[in-house]
Amino acid sequence: MVPVSSERFAARVTHLLEIGPKMRHPARACFDNPCNFSRLRSHKFHASIFPRSVSLSSVPPFVTIRVPVQVPAEKRNPRLMRDMFHAVAPRYDFITRAFSYGMDRRWKRTGVERARLPRNPVVLDLASGTGDFSALIRRQYPGARTVAADITERMLAFARARGAPHPVCADACALPFAAASFDCVFVGYGLRNFRNLALSLREIERVTRPGGLLVSLDFFLPRNRLLRRLYLAYLYAQGVFWGLVLHGRPRIYTYIPDSLRTFVSIDGFSALLLRAGYCRVEARSYILGGIGLHWAAKESEGAE
Ligand SMILES: C[S@@+](CC[C@H](N)C(=O)[O-])C[C@H]1O[C@@H](n2cnc3c(N)ncnc32)[C@H](O)[C@@H]1O
Repeated sequence: MVPVSSERFAARVTHLLEIGPKMRHPARACFDNPCNFSRLRSHKFHASIFPRSVSLSSVPPFVTIRVPVQVPAEKRNPRLMRDMFHAVAPRYDFITRAFSYGMDRRWKRTGVERARLPRNPVVLDLASGTGDFSALIRRQYPGARTVAADITERMLAFARARGAPHPVCADACALPFAAASFDCVFVGYGLRNFRNLALSLREIERVTRPGGLLVSLDFFLPRNRLLRRLYLAYLYAQGVFWGLVLHGRPRIYTYIPDSLRTFVSIDGFSALLLRAGYCRVEARSYILGGIGLHWAAKESEGAE
């Protein structure tokens, strides 16, 4: 095990520390590849992965510790994130269909159909990309008012060209909307990319009206460890292929498995939504847990 400095270690665990009270302490963080806690207590292992200030005596002995995985640079740095999606934008629709073998449209349609919104809903399509969800919502609810929001201007230009009427360049961690503005917030393959998942969930919850919905579609880590490895390897190989063919840059799509390695499972995300203040969460799993659709309802006003 290569010794890691406190700062580098902190960077590796930042995303995990953000996602729940149980994980605030580095020693409580869950990482990939579980290993036994008692092994952690051994001097050598302890000294190699924990910053000096961490006291293991405060950690209950039943906690599972996993080996840390690096958070992708794009996820830590909004400029790199924007650069990456700026380059991807003209090919985005093609690559989404290619990666999902055309199933992405069906998943998104299911997300919209099962949401059961009011007749003329006000909807935020967050991390809208080229505006897939906005387009589907307008088709299903002709009276809908949709707002497409994304951190990458070039993506929004494509969304506007497809008819998204109100594109807004915004970061999910600081949404420029008043509280309770939307009946529903749709997020397609977005949450995995957000720098601070807990903060963006708080923002999404804030701008949703009481009784409103969050619908999210994203990649997830399959629970089965062998499947997880195969899935990550498969996404990596696919990423290298399409990155080289479309951009001459393999990294551009190997970001997907890299960002996924530091994300959660479908069940883990459901638990996170409940902790974030949603009262009812439903999830659907596709391709053996590698893709998940979530519907989460915000508590209505006056609910007990
Ligand atoms: C994989 S694309 C998803 C596009 C579309 N929602 C879909 O379902 O196909 C992810 C999008 O998230 C945007 N994004 C990344 N970080 C963001 C942030 N912090 N706030 C808002 N948008 C962000 C990117 O610019 C990119 O357009």
